[in-house]
Parts: sequence; C-alpha cells; structure tokens
Amino acid sequence: MTVSLIDEALVMRRAAPLPRYTSYPTANHFVPTAPADYRAWLGALEDNAALSLYLHIPFCNDLCWYCACSTKATHRYEPVARYLDTVEAEIATVAGLLPSGHRVMHLHWGGGSPDILSAADITRLGQTFRHNFRFDPAAEFAIEIDPRLMTVAKADAMVGAGVNRISIGVQDFDPVVQAAIGRLQGFDITRTTVDMFRDRGVTSVNFDLVYGLPHQTLESLSRTIEQVLELSPDRIAMFGYAHLPGRASNQKLIDEAALPGAIERFAMARQVTTMLEAAGYQQLGLDHFARREDSLSTQPLNRNFQGYTTDSTEALIGLGASAIGKLPQGYVQNAVAVADYAKRVAANGLATARGRALTPDDRLRAYVIERLMCDFEFSGTAVRQMFGDTASGVLQEADAIVSDDSDGFIEPTATGFRLTARGRPFVRNICARFDAYLNPVAGKHSLSV
Ligand SMILES: C[S@@+](CC[C@H](N)C(=O)[O-])C[C@H]1O[C@@H](n2cnc3c(N)ncnc32)[C@H](O)[C@@H]1O
Ligand code: SF4
Repeated sequence: MTVSLIDEALVMRRAAPLPRYTSYPTANHFVPTAPADYRAWLGALEDNAALSLYLHIPFCNDLCWYCACSTKATHRYEPVARYLDTVEAEIATVAGLLPSGHRVMHLHWGGGSPDILSAADITRLGQTFRHNFRFDPAAEFAIEIDPRLMTVAKADAMVGAGVNRISIGVQDFDPVVQAAIGRLQGFDITRTTVDMFRDRGVTSVNFDLVYGLPHQTLESLSRTIEQVLELSPDRIAMFGYAHLPGRASNQKLIDEAALPGAIERFAMARQVTTMLEAAGYQQLGLDHFARREDSLSTQPLNRNFQGYTTDSTEALIGLGASAIGKLPQGYVQNAVAVADYAKRVAANGLATARGRALTPDDRLRAYVIERLMCDFEFSGTAVRQMFGDTASGVLQEADAIVSDDSDGFIEPTATGFRLTARGRPFVRNICARFDAYLNPVAGKHSLSV
C-alpha cells in the first residue's frame, strides 16, 4: 500500500502511546514483591508441572542506538563471567524449589546478546541447565543471536548444548539506516550465521527486523525485505521502532529529524505485510510472520514477554537480571541492575524485586487482551464459560466497543466481535479499552501504530 491509500486522519487520530501487551497488567504496574512470595508460588506448582525457562544475559559489546532492551555494553569478559556465577547460584536455588516431577518444555536465552558468552561458557551453562532441571525430550531450546559476535566454536557449543531454534537480530540491511542506528552488520555476516546453524541441523530460524528507523524509506525497507527473503527465515518479527529516549538514554544518539512519521510508519508496516504475504508467510498477531507450515502458524498462538509463542505451559520461570516470570498466581521480576541482582542472589538465593499477584479481574482482562492480541477476536461465549458471572462488566465493555465503533475496526460476531482488516493494525487501541490500569503517558509506551 502506498502512502496515498492510507487514511491519514485515522492514523493520526489513533496513534497513541500504548502498551504492547506482552503481559497484563503491564510491567510498569508491578509492585515491590518479596522473594518469600516467589518461593511460596514455586512450591505450590503441581508435581508434574510443564515449565518454560527464560534466561536473560544483559550484556552486549556495544549498545545499538535504537535499543530499548535491558542490557549494558562491555568489552571486558570478566563482568560476564562473574554474572554467570550468579546465574548458576540462582538456578540452583530455583531448581531446589521446583516439584521433582516438573518437565521443561521451552528454554530461551535472550538478552542483551547471549552469544557474547564464550564457547566454553555456553557449554558449561548448558550443562548447568541439564543438571538442575528435567527437560522433556521434545523441549525447544531457543537463543537470541547477534551475528556480529558469532564464531564457529560458539555455534558448535550452542548446538552441542541442544539449541534447536535461533533468533537473529537483523533490523535493516540498508547501510544508511545501519549508520543511523549505530549498528553496522553486512549482509554476509547474517548469511554466514544462518548457514552456520542450518549446516548444524538447526531448522528454525527467526529474524528480528524493525520499521520506523531513521532514514528508512518504503524503498529501502522493500530492498531489505528482498534480502531477507533470499535467506528464507522460517519466522520474522517486524517490530515498530519504540523511540523512548527518556527511558533508554542511548536513543538520544538517534537523529529524531530523520525518523519517519506515523503515516510513513503505517505505510511501512503495510508494505512489509504485503511483501511477506506474497512470499508465502502468514501474518500472526501484531508484528510476527511465519511460513504456513511453521508451528507458529499451525498451533494456537499465545503471547508472553518474548512476543508471540506456541508456549502454553503453566509457568514461565525467569532467570537473570530483570527477567520476568509468570506463575499461576501472578508475575515476578528480578532486580534489573546487574549489581543489585547479584547482591540479592548472594543474600537470598533469589533476586525477586517486583511482581503482581493476579486478581480475578486481572485474569479475566489478561485473557481477553491476550486473545485479542493473538486472534483479533473477543468471544463472549469463551469469556462466560471461563469466568462466569464475574465477566458481566467486561461483556458490557465489549458491547460498548461494538456500538461506538465509528472507524470500521469491529465486526460483530454471534457472541462478541472480531477486528476487521482495517482494525487489526489498531489492536493495541482496542486492547487498551479493556485495560483497567491504563495510563497512556507519552514517553512510557511506544506509538500504537
Ligand atoms: C535482544 S535483541 C536480539 C539479539 C541481539 N542482541 C541482537 O540485537 O542481534 C532483541 C530485539 O529487540 C528489538 N528491539 C530492540 N530495541 C527496540 C526498539 N527500541 N524498538 C523496537 N524493537 C527493538 C530488535 O529487533 C532486537 O533484535
Ligand atoms: S539490539 Fe541487541 S545487540 Fe543491540 S544493544 Fe540491543 S540487545 Fe544489544
């Protein structure tokens, strides 16, 4: 779609700073939480609980200017090695609190850049996980990769540790855009990384791309997508650039005058969708694409802190600084700063700092928001079946959304509504209508479109 075919007034009216709803309540509404609560929550898991594990590695060689992740730059390995010692101590504590019959279905190392670890440390950490947790034979093991840090020895170590999915940071292949975001990454580095893993039998490759970056144009982004298609990733995440320099001070290096406006961003997202659908990818949720035969396309979609996932386990255990976990009782988050995280683990074995016990109303709204973010649909029948009479308030809110839809975003169904093609890019605006904590302050959340 070209810019001229976009309803510009609509985009300008609806573009607002809103959450991306990787959780509900969103993490900015977490409150101070004691490790003792987390211990009790872990201890209450069913004996054969299916689990997911997330490990955060908050280090990169240099900070990319656009980055909003929880990470810090280091050219020395000593802080990374010291951090791994703390992670091992936290793992031992958490594993000791889990029911003996648990089964790990998913392991994800994210960051930051997990491939900053040396090959020897990748092997050692992989062994620590295998020794401390019970893995299901079909468990997925995914790792986030910055291709600029990869070596053959690291790829061997990852595959030896059981990695079977990789997610590669690409962002954009255009040299002008790369210079404007402080991340120079030639096409060949990305291609070599993909080949390195495919040659070792890893068949699931995701690319992270970003639209709305400085100096990006519809033409430059189209060229990037053509290059992406040459490498044929199985999945693609196409994030809208979240520019929040008040929160991520490295973003002050971004030239704001070179950032595309809301209308151009909207056109970019449309363009990418058109190109990827024409190439055989299916659009999933807000910003993901997958090949039609990929499990993300064929299995029910869920949403967690890593984005869209097929993970449906009852507990996600977060390990490492800033990591967020979700248990049946609610959310927990570790201390964000590495030094604080290490201090807490040394004192207590755990680093729980914040979290949120879920109320019945939170659970109801979390369900509605997750289904909207994943399926673009609100089912009154499902809500009534799951939540009974407590759902009546939310059902009335859904009726109100249908009746005041003057933008053509909503299509009523027998028992609820679904978003139209016109409404789907605005799914965060619709989710926000169900958010009882919403405080749409500029600078806290990225633009909804
Ligand atoms: C942890 S990084 C991926 C692994 C590795 N560190 C890398 O960059 O290659 C997570 C991803 O988040 C996305 N990201 C980071 N900051 C962002 C921002 N401000 N807006 C949108 N996406 C962002 C980027 O696509 C990035 O690849
Ligand atoms: S985008 Fe990746 S490599 Fe760049 S600073 Fe963020 S986490 Fe590190």
